[in-house]
Amino acid sequence: MSNVAVIGAGYVGLTTAACLAHIGHNVICADIDEDKIFQLNDGKIPIHEARLSELVTEGLSNQQLKFVVGAQSAITTSDFVFLCLPTPQGEDGRADIGSVLEVVEEICHLVPPETIIINKSTVPVGTNTSIERTIQREDVYVVSNPEFLREGVAVTDFLQPDRIVIGATSSQASARVAELYDPIDAPIIAVDPASAETIKYATNSFLATKVSFVNGLAAVCEAVGADIESVTRGLGTDQRIGSRFLQPGPGWGGSCFPKDMQALVRIATDAGYEFDLLRAVIEANDQQFDRIVSKAELLLGEDLDGKNLTLLGLTFKAHTDDLRNSPALEVAKRLATQGANLTAYDPMVDSQTETLDDIRLVANIEQALDDSEMALILTEWPEFTRANWSKLIDLMDTPCLVDARNVLDRRSMIELGYRYDDLGRI
Ligand code: UGA
Repeated sequence: MSNVAVIGAGYVGLTTAACLAHIGHNVICADIDEDKIFQLNDGKIPIHEARLSELVTEGLSNQQLKFVVGAQSAITTSDFVFLCLPTPQGEDGRADIGSVLEVVEEICHLVPPETIIINKSTVPVGTNTSIERTIQREDVYVVSNPEFLREGVAVTDFLQPDRIVIGATSSQASARVAELYDPIDAPIIAVDPASAETIKYATNSFLATKVSFVNGLAAVCEAVGADIESVTRGLGTDQRIGSRFLQPGPGWGGSCFPKDMQALVRIATDAGYEFDLLRAVIEANDQQFDRIVSKAELLLGEDLDGKNLTLLGLTFKAHTDDLRNSPALEVAKRLATQGANLTAYDPMVDSQTETLDDIRLVANIEQALDDSEMALILTEWPEFTRANWSKLIDLMDTPCLVDARNVLDRRSMIELGYRYDDLGRI
C-alpha cells in the first residue's frame, strides 16, 4: 500500500484518486477549488460518472481517500504524486501546460526524497523532460502515465484497462509505478517518456480518424446503395481493424479528440512533419456537421429559415453530462445560422438551470416535439430509442426525423409515417 497524492479533482483526477483508493492505496486528492473539495468531502460528486460516487463514498468511509485544498497539503508524505491537471488548447493549437508547470514549481521543493511525480494529463511530447528540468532534484523522478479514460465509463476503464503505459527514463521508477498498479490485471507498456506521451496522442487521433472514416463510409453507402451496418459488420470482424468505434454519428467531439487532434498536428509541424492526413480528418469532421444540416434541409424539402426544429440530445455522447465541443452544439450553431428556431431536450441537461445560445431548453421529449416541424437525434441516449414514436408522431407538425446516431429502426419509422433519414442505412 502506498501513499498517493492526486493533484486535480477533475474527471481524470477524481477517477484516479477514487480507483487508487479502491485498490488499496492511501490517497489524498487536492484541488484549488475550495467549494469542490467541500462538496467532495461531503460525498457529493460534481460530474456525472458511473460508479464514481460509490467509490468516493467507499474511500471516504474507510478513510483511504481524503480531499484537501491546495497541492501543498497533499504531498508531504507521498510516495507518488499524480498530476491530473487541465491542459487546454492554446490559440496556436498547442496544449497549454501552464497549470502543470505551476503546480510542479509549487511542490517540487516540498515532496519527500524518492517521490515519483506521475503526469497523467495529456501534454506535448517533451513535457516530462520540462518537468524534470523544473524540479532539478536528483532524488525525485518524473514518469509519464497517460490516461485512456472514456467519460461515462471512466471507472471501468481505470480498473479494467486494455493496457497501462508507463514512460520513464529510470527503470527503477518505472517498476515502482508498475507495482502501484499491481492489483489491476493489464499489460504494462514500459517505454521512454516521449513515447508514452506520443502513445496518448496516437490513440486519440487514431480513434477520431476511425470515426471520421466510418462517417465518410456511411456517405458512400448512401450514394451507392450499400448498408453501413452490413459494411461495418464485415469490416469490423477483420481483427486488424476491430469492430469498436465504427458507429456513424454527427461527428466526433468532447473535451479530448478535437484538442488532441489539433495538438498532434501542431506537434508534428513543430518537429518538421506536416501531418496532412490528420488535417484532412479534422476537415472531414467539420464537414460532417454540415452534412447533418444538409440532410435536414433535404428531408424538409425547404429552407430552414423560421422552421421549428427539435434537437434530441446535446451532450457530446450519451452517458455523460458534458457539453464541451459537442457535435450536437456544432450542428445547432449551423441550424441557427440558417434561421431555424431551436428547441432541445437532453436527459442530462437541466432546462431550469442551463442556458444555451439560440436554443430553448425543455424538460422532456414531448415538450420538445410539440408543434415541431423536424427533429434531429444528435446524442445516442437510450431514452430516444425506447420512446413511443407511434404516439410522439401526433405531437409533431410535420413528422420529419433525422437520426444522426442511427439509433432507431429505419423501416419501422417509415412504416409509422415518419419522413426519416439516417446515416448510410438501407
Ligand atoms: C476519449 C478516449 O476514448 C479516451 O480513451 C481518452 O482517455 C479520452 O478521450 C481523453 O483523452 O481523456 P471521450 O472523450 O470520453 O474519450 O470520448 P469517446 O468515447 O472516445 O468519444 C469521442 C467522440 O467520438 C464522441 O463524440 C462520440 O460520440 C464519437 N464516436 C465514438 C462516434 O461518433 N462513433 C463511435 O463509434 C465512437
